[in-house]
Amino acid sequence: MNRAEEKRRLRSRDWFDNRERMDMTALYLERFMNYGVTPEELRSGKPIIGIAQSGSDLSPCNRIHIDLAKRTRDGIRDGGGIPIEFPVHPIFENCRRPTAALDRNLLYLGLVELLNGYPIDGVVLTTGCDKTTPSQIMAASTVDIPAIVLSGGPMLDGWHEGELVGSGTVIWRSRRKLAAGEINEDQFLDRATSSAPSAGHCNSMGTASTMNAVAEALGLSLTGCAAIPAPYRERGQMAYRTGQRIVEMVREDLKPSDILTIDAFKNAIAVTSVIGGSSNAQPHIVAMARHAGVELEPEIWQEHGYDLPLLVNMQPAGAYLGERFHRAGGVPAAMWELLEAGVLYGDVATCTGKTMAENLSGHESKDREMIRPFADPLMDRAGFMVLSGNLFDFGILKTSVISEDFRERYLSRPGHEGKFEVRAVVFDGSDDYHHRIDEPSLEIDEECILVIRGSGVIGWPGSAEVVNMQPPERMIREGKSWLPTLGDGRQSGTSDSPSILNVSPESAVGGGLAWLRTGDMIRVDLNNRTCNALVDEDEIARRLAEEPTPAVPESNTPWEELFREKTGQLAEGGVMDFAIKYRGTARKLPRH
Ligand code: FES
Ligand code: MG
Repeated sequence: MNRAEEKRRLRSRDWFDNRERMDMTALYLERFMNYGVTPEELRSGKPIIGIAQSGSDLSPCNRIHIDLAKRTRDGIRDGGGIPIEFPVHPIFENCRRPTAALDRNLLYLGLVELLNGYPIDGVVLTTGCDKTTPSQIMAASTVDIPAIVLSGGPMLDGWHEGELVGSGTVIWRSRRKLAAGEINEDQFLDRATSSAPSAGHCNSMGTASTMNAVAEALGLSLTGCAAIPAPYRERGQMAYRTGQRIVEMVREDLKPSDILTIDAFKNAIAVTSVIGGSSNAQPHIVAMARHAGVELEPEIWQEHGYDLPLLVNMQPAGAYLGERFHRAGGVPAAMWELLEAGVLYGDVATCTGKTMAENLSGHESKDREMIRPFADPLMDRAGFMVLSGNLFDFGILKTSVISEDFRERYLSRPGHEGKFEVRAVVFDGSDDYHHRIDEPSLEIDEECILVIRGSGVIGWPGSAEVVNMQPPERMIREGKSWLPTLGDGRQSGTSDSPSILNVSPESAVGGGLAWLRTGDMIRVDLNNRTCNALVDEDEIARRLAEEPTPAVPESNTPWEELFREKTGQLAEGGVMDFAIKYRGTARKLPRH
């Protein structure tokens, strides 16, 4: 065999057509024949295409993929490949305790072993719920076989009494109404269930919609894939075409490492800004980049994200939901605006085999109320602002959800534009917050910032979506429904709270929040991108020497312990640092 032939030989042939070890080939063949593939077919040299199935009863946001896989299989078959469907570790954002964030790295680990250890030449990654997207992309990068993302798509738009109610966002807004006594518990539940009218993932621009948009922006899914609602006819067609395309990708040997360049990640950051994307995109994008061998400096969020405008009018930053976004043109129409404005890298490679600019040709927005022109946005400078100071080295502020009210109250004080000083009220985790938030002795008022610690990667463990805390009920009843917040955890992508999030290092590993005390003043200066506690160095040193660091709960499962041992901070993507050195594992065949 000459070198060109060697290069084209599919890895699955080593299992199914190994002339030196016919005994092994026979062993591999006999069991796969059970479900209708002939040995001749397996030995014919057709690519074996994995369908990484993320849908299950434990992963309801991705359940549509159980049906879609039939269409994906048809596409793979008609494209000349052989589909092999297998499950990945389920992740359900809302239900998994202590947090679904524990499972991103677990799914990653499991999928690496599946893709590496079985005769798979290419893979369809079935995505949907928040972490099901980054985890699978991380694994595809580590193994580096041809891979394509098939989103399951958002649910249909939710309606309640003539009003659009978006996933998650309706919960955060309704709990304020509940606290204010405007609705009762039955009405609360009614509003929540109305937001989920069909199969699919969250229909607002929460983390799920954001991460599927990011996958498309990276060039990993077919044009227009991310936004098609799960029940729509086009979703099934997209599954079929994705199946066809992955077979071609295997023939072209088009791998994640050919697509996931630094420019692709800059595009993903830009798209996150203009869609008003979830703050969870920050650790996930960094994690995917690191597994792809691309280091993203913290400044990249400023340089390629912060200055961009908000174009997509979708909850929580805007008004509408997924169906209208899709009809307006979805992710390609938002990217088209960036391309026309000269702020997109158009020449990057994508899974279609064409450049991003070629993919986007003709994809102008069909609804200017939904996807605004670059020159007439919903908001200027809508990306994440990166902050640092004596409390932390890295934290982000999602500026697209900063309301006019917030700007007026905190950022427009004459002589102090862009700055404010507030009194810290510190909580040790969410139980402490719920027990004490209504305590009168805390004297919480509009000059306070609610701080939560012990909610990071190590402290929780996993890092919890708990930073979007609401003020005491007394304030809500007076119409003051939010306060600035700060924490070493995350916040739901569907939340519209003005929060400083993902701060690293977290208190559990000695970050500054550990020495912060209720009553300390905190100065936030958005002009200089700083956040500092006004506590002098001697006092900080005294507290560190004399006062105990806040306790964190013990690990409750083996994985929690291992996760804590191996996982880094949110600033660095919360990845298992030792794992990023493994890239392109498929280049070496596993031994018999
Ligand atoms: Fe799964 Fe939102 S909870 S997509
Ligand atoms: Mg979430």
